[in-house]
Amino acid sequence: GKVFGLLGHPVGHSMSPNIHNDAFNQIGIEATYHAFDVEPEFVKEAVHGIRALQIAGCNVTVPHKVAVMEYLDEIDEEARLIGAVNTIVNQNGKLIGYNTDGRGFVQSLIEELNEDLKDKRLLLIGAGGAARGVATALMLYGIRHLAITNRTIEKADPIVQLAKTLKTPAEAVDRAQAEKSLDEYDVIINTTSVGMSPNIEDMPLDLGNLKREAVVCDLIYNPLETKLLKVAKKEGATTINGVGMFVNQAALSFEHWNGVTPDRNRMRKIVLEQLG
Ligand code: ATR
Repeated sequence: GKVFGLLGHPVGHSMSPNIHNDAFNQIGIEATYHAFDVEPEFVKEAVHGIRALQIAGCNVTVPHKVAVMEYLDEIDEEARLIGAVNTIVNQNGKLIGYNTDGRGFVQSLIEELNEDLKDKRLLLIGAGGAARGVATALMLYGIRHLAITNRTIEKADPIVQLAKTLKTPAEAVDRAQAEKSLDEYDVIINTTSVGMSPNIEDMPLDLGNLKREAVVCDLIYNPLETKLLKVAKKEGATTINGVGMFVNQAALSFEHWNGVTPDRNRMRKIVLEQLG
């Protein structure tokens, strides 16, 4: 059978092996998925090992998403724009890098929205790797405007630059400004780790001026409901946690490797069981 893997450090708590192995069983593909704990100094050897061991495909997670890139033979356009790879396909010894994180998020957002995402005013909180993935996918999807707020406002500049390249109007706004004009935004997306366990009482942004019809998203899935989402819900807003993004990025990787779509409801169930 084929072997698939996850390259990360640490990988002990990853839910990826469970959901992919279940999907292989379910569909009847003879394959196994294993989490490989790769120390940062061995990233190059690990990627060369994919070829040497004829591993069919890999996911890549923290902290290796950028480091693996220089050892790949080809990088897909979206992954290149994001500047990070979370999926490697071994095509007869040629290693191709993709990034399914951003698209996974956009899919989960579209599934929750009743109206067209393209007509929405969006505010992104954070400017790190996760923010760049989500921003890129949103812009490739065709959103008309993006605002970015971040604790360190200058760090939003590369995303504003990327928006120029992709011809999407974008601006960086500081936290005070974002909070004051929060009612201008239809969709608010937290990409920072603020509110993640164990600091579950922290908020990345004050929601005092949130409008009732807004959709508030958090990429965090542990806890399932961050303080940000709790407060948003209390204000009457629709909320989206990070489970959908996690499941969708996995399903998109699975499609790259196997050419078939796994059952995302099963994946979601396994994730919720493991978290709950
Ligand atoms: P990731 O790949 O998960 O995005 P990252 O690239 O390290 O991780 O980016 C972390 C993001 O979370 C940044 O936007 C960071 O803000 P700064 O650019 O100011 O560092 C944000 N972040 C992390 N901890 C934070 C905190 N305690 N308060 C506010 N923002 C925080």
